[in-house]
Amino acid sequence: MNHAAFDYIRSITDYRPQIGLVLGSGLGDFAGRLKTECVIDYSDIPGFPVSTVSGHAGRFIFGELGGRRLVCMQGRVHYYEGYKASEAVLPIRLMKLLGADTVILTNAAGGINTSFNPGDLMIIDDHISSFVPSPLIGPNEEELGTRFPDMSCVYDRELIELARECADDVDTALKEGVYIQLSGPNYETPAEIRMCRMLGADAVGMSTAIEAMAAHHAGMRVFGMSLITNMAAGILNIPLSHEEVKIAADAASERFGRFLERFIVRIDG
Ligand code: HPA
Repeated sequence: MNHAAFDYIRSITDYRPQIGLVLGSGLGDFAGRLKTECVIDYSDIPGFPVSTVSGHAGRFIFGELGGRRLVCMQGRVHYYEGYKASEAVLPIRLMKLLGADTVILTNAAGGINTSFNPGDLMIIDDHISSFVPSPLIGPNEEELGTRFPDMSCVYDRELIELARECADDVDTALKEGVYIQLSGPNYETPAEIRMCRMLGADAVGMSTAIEAMAAHHAGMRVFGMSLITNMAAGILNIPLSHEEVKIAADAASERFGRFLERFIVRIDG
């Protein structure tokens, strides 16, 4: 565990967040809803894996929303950037050490389930991470969790139930399903998407399963939500592009933000 990173953050702020929030593509502006206490650029943190993807600013934003203390990640770190899976989850572990017992993971994802449409929001109720290495490979971080952690319920059932209620509050329909993480950075082939569907996946992305595993290992309550920005390869007869994903993510950001704010203010302390 990189304690230099933790010590650096603590030298700047003693803020103790209750909730960690990872902002996926298009959701970066959500941090504007916070009463900001402190901002720390990833590039200033010793040993921190810095994101290189366009559209992913890289910083922690500490602040309050509806009486909840948050730390937001504006921009995340991806396995496909060349970091080890264990390095890509350092930020999640830091959020835990800083005090967060709950983590909300958001992402852009491709829809595999043909009943989905671009613009849908999907509660992640389970994941398949078998195509990327476990972030827990390497010496076990004993201060965080056990060597062989159970993964039979990674996504907190009470938070899922709360999300269903909050969707009604803000009049937004939510889908639910299984998220599969592939390594990226390329999008999938149509044959790979058919494989993912046969395996039981509803949405595909490049980030979230390993973060959820690291958070669950560390005993955090985990909630995950995917914004379906596009139908996955081969479903519609059009090529996929990062531009298209960013445009769809931006188009949904207000609705996603409204839901998230409602959800966060209703999470118990
Ligand atoms: N595949 C993988 N990751 C993604 C996609 C996709 O179709 N859309 C957004 N992130």
